[in-house]
Amino acid sequence: MIINVYKDYNEISQKTSEFIVEYVKQKPEAIICFAGGTTPLRTYSLLVDYANRGEIDFSSCSFIGLDEWVGLDRHDDGSCQETMYNTLFSPLNIKESNIFFFDAKSVNLEDECRKIDEIISSKGGIDLMLLGIGVNGHLGFNEPGVQFDLSTHVIELDETTKVVGQKYFKVETELTKGITLGIKQVLNSDTVILMANGDKKADAVKAMVEGEVTNQMPASALQKHDNCYVMLDKEAAAQLEL
Ligand code: F6R
Repeated sequence: MIINVYKDYNEISQKTSEFIVEYVKQKPEAIICFAGGTTPLRTYSLLVDYANRGEIDFSSCSFIGLDEWVGLDRHDDGSCQETMYNTLFSPLNIKESNIFFFDAKSVNLEDECRKIDEIISSKGGIDLMLLGIGVNGHLGFNEPGVQFDLSTHVIELDETTKVVGQKYFKVETELTKGITLGIKQVLNSDTVILMANGDKKADAVKAMVEGEVTNQMPASALQKHDNCYVMLDKEAAAQLEL
């Protein structure tokens, strides 16, 4: 893990967006997987600014969904897809044919998992992943206790995720399961960026970086990734023994 600590949220967003722009300049046909949630939102808005200034072109990239609340789709307020479309895919005019998301409303979620696994395999794997971390240490919806050798799967959400997840919804929403890429696919990605900001993430960040690698803290699996860049603000890094 390469740990980078910056002044504040704006700076980690700026540095992360620069990293992504440089990556895509080197590899215009990159296979990309970006998290929803609030942490990367400023990064996405900066990426849109870069594209609007003509400094980067994402039109040849493919975008793979990271996770979704089971029962919701892109038209549901608060869904992961809604976030990705509103903040990135629509402003960048990404072609539908370059976006690969699961249908979390499908009656056969197992088929959706295998569909995404096959798409990732057929494209030769994910090049660049951008992740956030849950206060419980989840990555995507790989919740505490998850097996590290899983590919895309459906999972019972952790109680913390059900409670914290309400922040994405205007009205209280029953959250029970998630569909998510697995830790195996995270570890097989060529480059991973993990962003965290704010003191609420400090405990999880410490366990991820300095704790033992255990499925009780899914993000600790990133210690096994050779090309993982951790972008932290001072608050999120406050407990690290740097
Ligand atoms: C969302 C996702 C989650 C979030 C994590 C942090 O697609 O995969 O793992 O990245 O829960 O969420 P925020 O950024 O809202 O604190």
